[in-house]
Amino acid sequence: MKFFLDTANIAEIEEAASWGAVSGVTTNPTLYAREGGKLADFHAHIVRICEIVDGPVSAETVSLKRDEIVAEGVELAALHEHVVVKVPTMPEGLAATRELFERGIKVNMTLCFTVPQALLSARAGAAYISPFIGRFDDISEDGLEHLGNTVAAINNYDFGHDVEIIAASVRHPGHVVGAALLGADIATVPFKILQQCIKHPLTDRGLESFLADWEKVKNS
Ligand code: E4P
Repeated sequence: MKFFLDTANIAEIEEAASWGAVSGVTTNPTLYAREGGKLADFHAHIVRICEIVDGPVSAETVSLKRDEIVAEGVELAALHEHVVVKVPTMPEGLAATRELFERGIKVNMTLCFTVPQALLSARAGAAYISPFIGRFDDISEDGLEHLGNTVAAINNYDFGHDVEIIAASVRHPGHVVGAALLGADIATVPFKILQQCIKHPLTDRGLESFLADWEKVKNS
């Protein structure tokens, strides 16, 4: 499973990229707004992220009509070769995805909550599909169970093009473990969760004692 970073924060992206284990970034309008992002700076911000990360960077469309989504997507895709156009899962979004697919532009279908939505997204030509886990947990449903169903259903078929499942709306490292065991291709995680994923108290304690023992060796 690959790790993407789910943020629009440049400092977090720089730090995570420096660890050498992050394969891409996903953004959305909320994440950009959280950074105090202005409309006029949006494209430059996406380009900046693309320059930091050597991999797919999802930039989301906000139009609701097929032709407008396509126009937005074409504009976003022209910004940088890393850009993947993020399109909400809805009828106009499917139609736009098909059109973008035919133009050779990669789409990440977002806000995916059901198996039929995922299957339709794949049929429309989505390169990435993002089932949301945490938002299901928020309403007392099992987000990982939904993710597992989606992974299994998508893996049953050959869509004639690559389709990768991105486990999204990740709230804690347990979701990362679950996504990996269920065979998700990618987990997109907030920076805080990426930090939680690499830290472990036993690692800290082990390192402390290795270093203390090495001091004894040096002084022997
Ligand atoms: C995915 O690409 C989305 O950005 C994301 O994971 C949103 O999840 P959340 O708003 O529920 O945290």
